[in-house]
Amino acid sequence: MKRIFVTRAWPGRALERLTQAGYEVEVWPEFIAPAKGILMEKLKDASAVITTVEDPLDAEVIRAAGPFLRIIAQAAVGYDNIDIEVARARGLRVSNTPGVLTDATADLAFALLAAVARRVVAGMDYVRDAKWTAWHPALLLGPELYGATVGVVGFGRIGQAFAKRCRGFDMKVLYSDSAPKPPEVAQGAEYRPVNDLFAEADFLSLHTPLTPETHHLVNRERLALMKPNAVLVNTARGRVVDTEALVEALKAERLGGVGLDVTDPEPLPASHPLLSLPNVIVTPHIGSAGQTTRERMAAMAVANSLAVLAGTEPPNAVV
Ligand code: NAP
Ligand code: GLV
Repeated sequence: MKRIFVTRAWPGRALERLTQAGYEVEVWPEFIAPAKGILMEKLKDASAVITTVEDPLDAEVIRAAGPFLRIIAQAAVGYDNIDIEVARARGLRVSNTPGVLTDATADLAFALLAAVARRVVAGMDYVRDAKWTAWHPALLLGPELYGATVGVVGFGRIGQAFAKRCRGFDMKVLYSDSAPKPPEVAQGAEYRPVNDLFAEADFLSLHTPLTPETHHLVNRERLALMKPNAVLVNTARGRVVDTEALVEALKAERLGGVGLDVTDPEPLPASHPLLSLPNVIVTPHIGSAGQTTRERMAAMAVANSLAVLAGTEPPNAVV
């Protein structure tokens, strides 16, 4: 069977390579991802599937896939939507797209930090609401970036790229990770156990994958450790944060503000309590949404698919 199912229409021309290589390609044409039942149907006769963050490649979907399926090529670096153990047990390959989206995502994390700290969206709302009647020295004050201490949780590719941006703004960088990094990787950033990091940082940015260990890593207890004016940024995964505890902390003014590119639930309904709180900025999971980045992610997923279908090792194998 030479059929490939692609769950989204990706920018750029990378998908054309699949047809050029002789595969019959079906690209899901709608803005909203195929529902689980549709995905299961499509995988009955596909030999590869190009997926991304919201696609539910759970045990049920993978077990129901037809006998031709060889690879789940995830066009994203995170793959918490895929049941890796079930895929492995079925002899499937799984790949992802590490590296190409590192800078774009670090840029967005930094943009959220700067926007929350310096109250950019609050300022825009103020002007739009016709409240701008005079200059005043106490208007919309926020913490400065320079000289602040930033804590990076998860000091991998994106965490390190984010730290580089922070160093450029004269911040002191602390990090926590599964283990301390060698000095050539840390680049002056100091390791802290995670609870110390929460207590010491003026700004915290999350960059871990979503795993059973990182689920609700930001919980009520850790939020209580944070400085009262601290800013939290999450571009990792929504479920790394206990949203209920976050809303509580914001309502009680025990946190300076938050910038979230990922939420729980996701998509976040417009009626969600988070959106009625001051100094909260939410973007719709657009960390890697640079034109070139998205084209490169698609190209990597295509290269991984073609490699496996040709009987060779995928360049970005997860399993
Ligand atoms: P990465 O290079 O693998 O970095 C993740 C880091 O987190 C690793 O150093 C890892 O350590 C560490 N880590 C794992 N478990 C931890 C824990 N319990 N406590 C502290 N640190 C822990 O991955 P990346 O490329 O930077 O991507 C990170 C995540 O960002 C992705 O998994 C994805 O969820 C998210 N992301 C979001 C967007 C977006 O659009 N918002 C875009 C891209 C990525 P070990 O290697 O030792 O496990
Ligand atoms: C996006 O969220 C990714 O994991 O690449």
